[in-house]
This record gives sequence, C-alpha cells and structure tokens, in this order.
Amino acid sequence: MNTTPLLRVENLTRRFGGLVAVNNLQLSVQQGELIGLIGPNGAGKTTLFNLLMGLVKPSAGEIYLAGERITGQKPHNIARLGMVKTFQNVALFPEMTVLDNVLTGGLLRLSLNDARDFACENLAKVGMAHIADKRAADLTFPEKALVEMARALCTQPKLVLLDEVMAALNHSEMDQILALIRKLRNEEGLTFIVIEHHMRAIMNLCERIFVLSFGQKIAEGTPQDISRNQDVIAAYLGNDMEAGVHA
Ligand SMILES: Nc1ncnc2c1ncn2[C@@H]1O[C@H](COP(=O)(O)OP(=O)(O)O)[C@@H](O)[C@H]1O
Ligand SMILES: [Mg+2]
Repeated sequence: MNTTPLLRVENLTRRFGGLVAVNNLQLSVQQGELIGLIGPNGAGKTTLFNLLMGLVKPSAGEIYLAGERITGQKPHNIARLGMVKTFQNVALFPEMTVLDNVLTGGLLRLSLNDARDFACENLAKVGMAHIADKRAADLTFPEKALVEMARALCTQPKLVLLDEVMAALNHSEMDQILALIRKLRNEEGLTFIVIEHHMRAIMNLCERIFVLSFGQKIAEGTPQDISRNQDVIAAYLGNDMEAGVHA
C-alpha cells in the first residue's frame, strides 16, 4: 500500500555559520510508528526537531506533514496541523500550578473552560490527576516528564516529538513513560519520534531508529539492524550501545 507519510523530510539542511548541524537529511515516518532518533551529542537531533517545529529555519530542503508542505511555517501553525514537541530541558512555568501549565496546551484549539476540562482529562490519562494543584517548581523529575506529556496531549497532536524527556529518570520511572507512549500509540494511533540517550529505552520502545552523526543520517533500521551496524558502533565508540540491546 502506498500511503502518504505523516512526516516527510527532503534534503533538509541547517547551517550555523560554518557548521552544518543538519546535513541533507531525508526521512519518512508513517502514521502510528514509534521512531527513535539517536546520535552522539551535537549530532543535530535537537536542531532537527526545531526545524520540524518551525523554531529554526532551514538553510535548504523541505518538510511535509501529512502531505502538506510546512517548510518555513510558523510554530503555531505547525502545532495546529498536529505536531508538538517537548523541550530537552523541561520548560514548565515554575510558579504556575500543574493544571495551569497543562491547560496552556489546550488553548491552541479550545476556550479556557474547555481547555481546563481537557487538561484534567489528560492529567488523568498520564496518571497525574492527583498533583493538579501542585506548583510546577515542586515536581519531581518523573512528575515533570508526565506533566509535559499531558501538556503535549492537550494540543491534540498527531505527531509527538520527545526530546530526552526520560533523561533524569531511573529504570522504573522510565518504564512508566514507555508504557504510556505505547498505550497512546496503540489506543489513539499517535506517532512518536523519541530522542533519548538511554539505549535500553530506545531499543525496547522503537520499531525503527534513525541515527544521526555530524548532521547526517548514517543509519536507519530496526533496533537489531542498528545495534549491528558498524558505522553506528563506530560513531558511538565508548558508548553502551551493545550492552543496551541486551538489557
Ligand atoms: N542556535 C545555534 N547556533 C549555533 N550553533 C548551534 C545552534 N544550535 C545548535 N548548534 C550546534 O549545532 C550542532 C547540533 O546541535 P544539537 O542539534 O543541539 O545536537 P544534539 O541535540 O544532537 O546534541 C552542535 O554543534 C551545536 O553546537
Ligand atoms: Mg539535543
């Protein structure tokens, strides 16, 4: 079957001065896929997410969401079309309550009252209804990650970009997030692209992995393919890549 990919990236390039942070990238993601995006520090992963969301302008190339060209569109428009991203360093408003933080996601499409109801619904969905009145500044790392997820869900996304949301979590906290991602894909058909340094999480969750190194896609395939790929192993010298596969 030849369906339109949910996301297609063609020849995408972003230069910062002399540095090519994202270099002539091609990608295609189908609706409902769980995609991992890995690569050493500075490989261009976050820049790719910023390009996709319209937060950074491409130097060259095109981006299509569900067949619609979104290259150069404003972040707000791109969010309306169904793409959302969490931030690498969790960016909740610290002095606001959890509920108020989460409902900001809903204001993209809903009135304040509806956004509040929807925020409660999504907090319940991620298992965080009981902390709705807490100050965001007082949350633990796993609570922050789940609240960020709830806020993202309030935008009613098709494609969710997660930038290291599990960075500060232990194994069991990470498993809770992984189960939530799987559930959202299985029950609601959401599509995820997940940047994560923790190889065990990526290998367990993702069906397909893209590997970036110095802005280029050096490999693409199943977790098994990727773990055996010599270029990937070379890019990761000293990393726990192999150990992660068997964890
Ligand atoms: N706004 C910017 N200005 C200049 N250089 C940048 C900017 N954003 C990212 N870079 C550079 O682009 C490269 C890729 O960075 P980044 O996308 O953050 O990598 P990753 O997320 O894979 O660690 C790095 O060398 C980084 O220093
Ligand atoms: Mg990054």
